Amino acid sequence: MPIPRSAGLTSTTSWATQCTPRCILDAAASDAQWGILFSHPKDFTPVCTTELAFAASISDKFTMRKVKMIALSVDSVEDHNVWIKDVMALNNSSAALPFPIIADSGRKLATLLGMMDPDETDREGNPVTARCVFVIGPDKKLKLSCLYPATTGRNFDELLRVIDSLQLTAQKKVATPVHWRPGDKVMVLPNIADDEVTKLFPNGVSTKEVPSRKKYLRYTQL
Ligand code: BEZ
Repeated sequence: MPIPRSAGLTSTTSWATQCTPRCILDAAASDAQWGILFSHPKDFTPVCTTELAFAASISDKFTMRKVKMIALSVDSVEDHNVWIKDVMALNNSSAALPFPIIADSGRKLATLLGMMDPDETDREGNPVTARCVFVIGPDKKLKLSCLYPATTGRNFDELLRVIDSLQLTAQKKVATPVHWRPGDKVMVLPNIADDEVTKLFPNGVSTKEVPSRKKYLRYTQL
């Protein structure tokens, strides 16, 4: 999936902290590394704190998948450093947060990346960031984006599941069906001709019969 220009991800314009969308991409995804950039509406807010604490508790699962994590919130480094202690306290931990939080207090990066939530403001009436997720592949291209409103916390276990699917489907000519989990059967891509299937999938392919008699539900075990 090409990175949308509208999201500003291809811009090289530098901003106050010398951090550009390109340097986010470079930091997130290099060599075999993947990256996940997730935004938070505001420091010291309840849902964000639960999300960051959970993300920290499963950061080793992102590391195992070679995914670098980067969060973003529209407050200062000083605020982030105080907030991080609250976040880790929710995990009954005084360790450091295992990934950085971008201090986008000027909302420049969030605006460039289309992350601002049009419906939510903080107590001072300033706009806040929505809960965006960008997953970036080793080729520095955007592989997935999702956008939750500030009022709905994300499911980081689902993000891991999605990353497993993205990484598998980047390697094999398969797609993952509904509620797929690693180890489950996968589906042969619709554009693979039947005569290629045996060569590509030595474990065999089973086809589900359907009323249309079209043989498009092709499952294989990798
Ligand atoms: C929160 O993180 O709890 C939150 C932030 C902004 C709007 C609504 C909820």
